[in-house]
Amino acid sequence: MVISLDSPLDMHLHLRDGDMLDIVAPLSAETFAAGLIMPNLVPPVTTKEAVCAYRERILEAQAGHRFLPYMTLFFKSDYSPEFLESVREEILAIKLYPAGITTNSEGGVSGFDLGELSPVLGAMSDLGIPLCVHGETGGFVMDREAEFIPVYEMLAQNFPDLTIVMEHITTKDAVEALDRYENLYATITLHHLYITLDDVAGGLLQPHLFCKPIAKRPEDRTALLNAALKAHPKVMFGSDSAPHPRDKKEAPGCAAGVFTAPIALQALAQLFDRHDALDNLQAFVSGNAQRIYGIVPPVKEVVLEKTPWLVPDIYEGTVVPMFAGQSLEWRIVSVG
Ligand code: NCD
Ligand code: ZN
Repeated sequence: MVISLDSPLDMHLHLRDGDMLDIVAPLSAETFAAGLIMPNLVPPVTTKEAVCAYRERILEAQAGHRFLPYMTLFFKSDYSPEFLESVREEILAIKLYPAGITTNSEGGVSGFDLGELSPVLGAMSDLGIPLCVHGETGGFVMDREAEFIPVYEMLAQNFPDLTIVMEHITTKDAVEALDRYENLYATITLHHLYITLDDVAGGLLQPHLFCKPIAKRPEDRTALLNAALKAHPKVMFGSDSAPHPRDKKEAPGCAAGVFTAPIALQALAQLFDRHDALDNLQAFVSGNAQRIYGIVPPVKEVVLEKTPWLVPDIYEGTVVPMFAGQSLEWRIVSVG
């Protein structure tokens, strides 16, 4: 069996910088047509110069593959409307992190005071710049996303013309919120469609599956699967592929992030095939994002066939992918 995907998109991608960027950028650029690049570098991407310079480093690192990095800015509540207008053409979205909630988010937002956030959110709404949000409170780890839903609702109600993307949703509560507000959208990762907390910590601890937000309960995964497999029109694929060097994962104080970029399309094909939903994969990995963001990505045709493929144990001796050393049922046969 063979399927063909047109211009697959990864709408939530960490490419990092330096040596790691050189390792992972070609792996995404090989099979995806474009990706939304997260700004949580050290220091975070907060100026037009930093956006443009980071884009140049990505283009240089992607080893000649046809791949468009859609850039983002790290949300700051003190951005001026003039600054936002000047940077508008260089970015596709702005990413908001609650302070300290995940990797390199220390400079994020503390508290969600509408008065403090309104000037920037109002300007973004006027300029048509979507807001991407890492939606977790500082509460008990399993409840952080559900506790954040009222913040999403507050934002959606107060800025009805602002496109708000709930990033990497992991709960039934978030799936349900999607249908309550016209301007709320979501990305779903590969790993949250496959795993629950049991896979992370139910047996021997699996550091390569540890990420933020943490994988939740079986009923949450089922809700995510239902939304993805039918390509719910408000959800998009965003891998949240978040590489960390092996020694930072297999360590006390394990860094949060699952590295999925090079195995994402194969594992998505396997999942959609197992659920008899291959017809909806195109919308989930490309069509929905094109409509929601109003983008026309580069043309790229990825052909996959149902033949076993052994996932490498490690890339460049540095970064361990999800399903390392295991066999997937689908492999990529050509990219054109
Ligand atoms: C991401 C990272 O490492 O940058 N980690 C993660 O667990 N997902 C940050 C993020 O998206 O939360
Ligand atoms: Zn992320």
